[in-house]
Amino acid sequence: MERTLIIVKPDGVQRALVGEIIKRFEARGLRIAGMKLMQIPRETAEKHYAEHKGKPFYEGTVAFMTSAPVIVLCLEGPDAVAAARATMGATNPLNAPAGTIRGDLGINISRNLVHGADKPETAVRELALYFTEDELLSYERAADKWLKE
Ligand code: TYD
Ligand code: MG
Repeated sequence: MERTLIIVKPDGVQRALVGEIIKRFEARGLRIAGMKLMQIPRETAEKHYAEHKGKPFYEGTVAFMTSAPVIVLCLEGPDAVAAARATMGATNPLNAPAGTIRGDLGINISRNLVHGADKPETAVRELALYFTEDELLSYERAADKWLKE
C-alpha cells in the first residue's frame, strides 16, 4: 500500500473540473485518505517546487499555484504514485495521450490541471507539506478486495 499527494491546481478548480479529475483517480481504484480545499501559502509552494528553483518556469509556477484555491488529496492504493502519474499523463498536455487527465482536458504545459508526486519518497515529503498525520485516514472500502489479487 502506498500514498501519493495529488493537487487539483487552480485552473482545475476555476474550470469546474474538480469532480471530473477526482473521478478518474477514484475509478482507477485509488482511495481518498485525505482531501481539503485550500489556498497554498507562498512559503509552502516554494518548498514544494524547490527542485525547480532557478528554472525559467519556477516563478510563474509558484505564482500560479498560489493564485487561487486548490484541492489537495492524499490517495492510497497499490503503487499509488505510478498509477496516479499514468492517469495524469505527461507534464505537457500536448504529449499526454487521450484518456489521461492532461491529454483530455489540457492544452498548455503551465496550465496542466493536476499535480502528482513523481516518486514514493517525493510523495512522503510532499504529503508532509500539506497534511498533518491526523488529517489522513486509513480504512478499507467494501470494493478494495476486488482491486487486487
Ligand atoms: P515538473 O515537475 O517537470 O512536471 P510534473 O508536474 O509533471 O511533475 O514541473 C512542475 C510544473 O511546472 C509543471 O506541472 C508545470 C510547470 N512547468 C512549466 O510551466 N513549464 C515547463 O517547461 C515545465 C517543465 C514545467
Ligand atoms: Mg514534478
